[in-house]
Amino acid sequence: MHRRSRESEPPRIDHMEMVDIVKEFPGVRANDGVSLDVRSGEAHAILGENGAGKSTLMRQLYGMYEPDEGEIRINGTPVLFRSPADAIRAGIGMIHQHFMLIPTMTVAENVALGRRSSRGIRLDLDRVGERIRLLSRDYGLQVDPDARVWQLSVGEQQRVEILKALDLGASLIILDEPTAVLTPQEVSDLFATLKRMVAEGHSLLFISHKLHEVLDVSDRVTVLRDGITVGTRRTAEVTREELVTLMVGRELKPQTHREPSPGEAGLVVRDLRVTGDRGEEIVRGVDLHVDTGEILGLAGVSGNGQRELAEALAGVRLVSSGTIDVLGQDLTTAHLNERVKAGVSFIPEERMRDGAIREFTVEENVFLRDHESSQFRRWLFLRFGEMQRHARRLVKEYAVKTPSLETPLKNLSGGNIQKLILARELSRRPTVLIASQPTRGVDIGASEYIHRTLLAQRDAGTAILLISEDLDEIRELSDRVAVIYAGRIVGVLDRADAEVERVGSLMAGVAG
Ligand SMILES: Nc1ncnc2c1ncn2[C@@H]1O[C@H](COP(=O)(O)OP(=O)(O)OP(=O)(O)O)[C@@H](O)[C@H]1O
Ligand SMILES: [Mg+2]
Repeated sequence: MHRRSRESEPPRIDHMEMVDIVKEFPGVRANDGVSLDVRSGEAHAILGENGAGKSTLMRQLYGMYEPDEGEIRINGTPVLFRSPADAIRAGIGMIHQHFMLIPTMTVAENVALGRRSSRGIRLDLDRVGERIRLLSRDYGLQVDPDARVWQLSVGEQQRVEILKALDLGASLIILDEPTAVLTPQEVSDLFATLKRMVAEGHSLLFISHKLHEVLDVSDRVTVLRDGITVGTRRTAEVTREELVTLMVGRELKPQTHREPSPGEAGLVVRDLRVTGDRGEEIVRGVDLHVDTGEILGLAGVSGNGQRELAEALAGVRLVSSGTIDVLGQDLTTAHLNERVKAGVSFIPEERMRDGAIREFTVEENVFLRDHESSQFRRWLFLRFGEMQRHARRLVKEYAVKTPSLETPLKNLSGGNIQKLILARELSRRPTVLIASQPTRGVDIGASEYIHRTLLAQRDAGTAILLISEDLDEIRELSDRVAVIYAGRIVGVLDRADAEVERVGSLMAGVAG
């Protein structure tokens, strides 16, 4: 492997320790004495329920917050990071879940921006381009240095973030839920890269909710619960069940699927065509029907039109042609509010962006769409007492971790924001529910709860369109499975026929 010759190269981190870290926010002790360490050539996974304190811990290591108590040591020496710039100088890189790239610039320009070059970005670009090519080759990070970031897929943007960290000489890399937004193929590419990085002597700290990823990639795993370290184990010596018990404090059982009772046509979609953000036709003549009391799973690799289809059904994206009926009522051109009234609920894939307002409180977010409902209104007056009771009930039922109903949403952990939006949409007893990636980013205990809730909704007569990239989830819950590829439904299978291989080859566009 090539080595860099820049004089400002950070020293290599052989051992990083976080010792008894305490971090408080108003009303919450996010970390209450957490310890963990990572060595060169080791991948260390961090597991824990939503709100356990994982991101907070990593943000302190990256200099975004200072610990209230405790110590961070690098190669045995205590360090104090006042900003990410300090952490970067010490050789730490962090790949955030929401990328921090400039969309209109090229890959090379974005990487060059991270460097503190005295020669100016322009002069450096050729050298950066060359380095990107070398790093790409060494670590299997396929990306074109001259491509503009807005043209890249999510997986490619993540590769740019990793390249940027490597280019800055990071030897310890933090990844906060790196796979949550990736397609299965992108996940396996990422893992190949991570393994090469470890083989090269880098240290990795990565957060994930998916146990099979933790078992696949990590050497050791630390489990956090309520801001405390409940244990660190060698991955080779631990089972899936033990990890679940450490995390959740109990064992989880998979759902048993029961036969649906046939209903009437809940959602009927005919020859639907929808245009994507770049003006191209991305839903290209979709026909679907979901009966009441049925779950239709829609499997597909992301980018094949499922997001735009869901948005069109929910009324947040215009339809070019075709029709959408709910219980026989034509809603093709109905506004969002009319759809809500007709009983359509929508759990958007990008819940942070499309489903909530971060500056509003938890309670306000519960009522974002429901303030017109008669349950919470008498004449013209809002029934505040009733609203508060409802919000409190949802928070309790879905175990949303929040100091109070008045807390701004942005102070909740990622997974808890997701849970709140799910709770809101499911609590409306919808006629039709469009659920996009409903368990993405939520912990396994909450996933189990959401699955149980979806099945109960089905049994109560809701027609559910479940859009998911997680084949296990699709197969566990669906009564029938439709597969979308290149904007078209390429197959609809009965539950019994939806084997992984068959669905997988349909997803890949191979006729099944
Ligand atoms: N900036 C902040 N202000 C106030 N409270 C915060 C802030 N950041 C986090 N918290 C609180 O600290 C606790 C831990 O949050 P953190 O984001 O570290 O959880 P997490 O383990 O990463 O969860 P998830 O799996 O949902 O991402 C939560 O209760 C959260 O509400
Ligand atoms: Mg987090």
